[in-house]
Amino acid sequence: MIRRALCFPSFIRKSLLIPPVISPYSNSSSKIGAYNGYASQTSSLEVPDSAPYRENDEYADVDWDNLGFGLMPTDYMYVNKCGAGQHFGHGQLNPYGNIHLSPSAAVLNYGQGLFEGTKAYRKENGQLLLFRPEQNAIRMKSGAQRMCMEAPSVDQFVNALKQTALANKRWVPPPGKGSLYLRPLLIGSGAVLGLAPAPEYTFLIYASPVRNYFKEGSAPLNLYVEENFDRASRRGTGSVKTISNYAPVLMAQLRAKKNGFSDVLYLDSATKKNLEEVSSCNIFIAKGRCISTPGTNGTILAGITRKSVIELARDHGYEVEERAVAVDELMEADEVFCTGTAVGVAPVGAITYQNTRMEYKTGSGTICQELYNTLLGIQTGVIEDKKGWIIEID
Ligand SMILES: Cc1ncc(COP(=O)(O)O)c(C=O)c1O
Repeated sequence: MIRRALCFPSFIRKSLLIPPVISPYSNSSSKIGAYNGYASQTSSLEVPDSAPYRENDEYADVDWDNLGFGLMPTDYMYVNKCGAGQHFGHGQLNPYGNIHLSPSAAVLNYGQGLFEGTKAYRKENGQLLLFRPEQNAIRMKSGAQRMCMEAPSVDQFVNALKQTALANKRWVPPPGKGSLYLRPLLIGSGAVLGLAPAPEYTFLIYASPVRNYFKEGSAPLNLYVEENFDRASRRGTGSVKTISNYAPVLMAQLRAKKNGFSDVLYLDSATKKNLEEVSSCNIFIAKGRCISTPGTNGTILAGITRKSVIELARDHGYEVEERAVAVDELMEADEVFCTGTAVGVAPVGAITYQNTRMEYKTGSGTICQELYNTLLGIQTGVIEDKKGWIIEID
């Protein structure tokens, strides 16, 4: 089915060539088949400023009540390229689809790549909200320095996120149903043969609607403390959101899942005595009114949710410590929870360490739930943002 995609704010309409878009989700019975045809779509069509707004374009044809976490491609992706030693200029919105890369692109051969993750929420009044996007921009910039890559400026990064969210507005779930996950990538797209930084970099953002992680009735996390695999080492890249940190955790994660766990909790590789983080989120433990989380000493990712939750918890009167947290402290904790863009603030119901299973308080009246409600409330515009964390973009 050919779909028109015209519900653009005028600043986007003026600057874009907008192609006819075939929605992979217009027919729920053949989603994958439709998607394959769509990926190679390249034709373009200029859309006049006076293009009429059509009511039924307000939302994409999605069953919002049954949204999951899988990739649901949307209409547009943002693309910007720059040569080594140069600065990024203007990017553009292209129809979502496959990208062309040389087989000898640095990202494919040597893993020269970074990714980010953030979400756009739809407020009750229809406005889109971004949560602390400049923090993702800053993290990408410092990661790029470590990985010898060019990076977009903070302004370019935030503007690109805004454009991507607005261009895909009809894919942003209705209030309360989830969010539009935005995935910025920075990759060494230029060709190299010997090990060296790429001669060209591509900054790209794509999007996918996702449900809120924590749904009524969803089970708390059940973690496994991993002692045979390390996630990061001292003076390595554990604190960088590089793509090369993620495939190496798959083996431990798959093994844990096969044994009925939700994910893996890593220890520090040097002593195996202290907690680090879960495969893709940070960890907190709570005892009484004291909350502790591993300090950011170079081996864990400094999560934006982590940083926000620390601030919110202090505002709520909790004592928060960023320090080395011994694995033995898991025995004494009342509560354990994880933080991250994907999970928000997620309760941990149980952790297994050296054949001992420890269980924690979850559900109503917990610190985890209090912080989750506050964070999500701010992110969705339900709670007033007194911190300047929210950017309204429509
Ligand atoms: C390894 C790792 N730790 C922690 C996080 C949480 O970071 P944030 O709160 O910025 O999403 C992520 C998120 O992607 C991650 O990949």
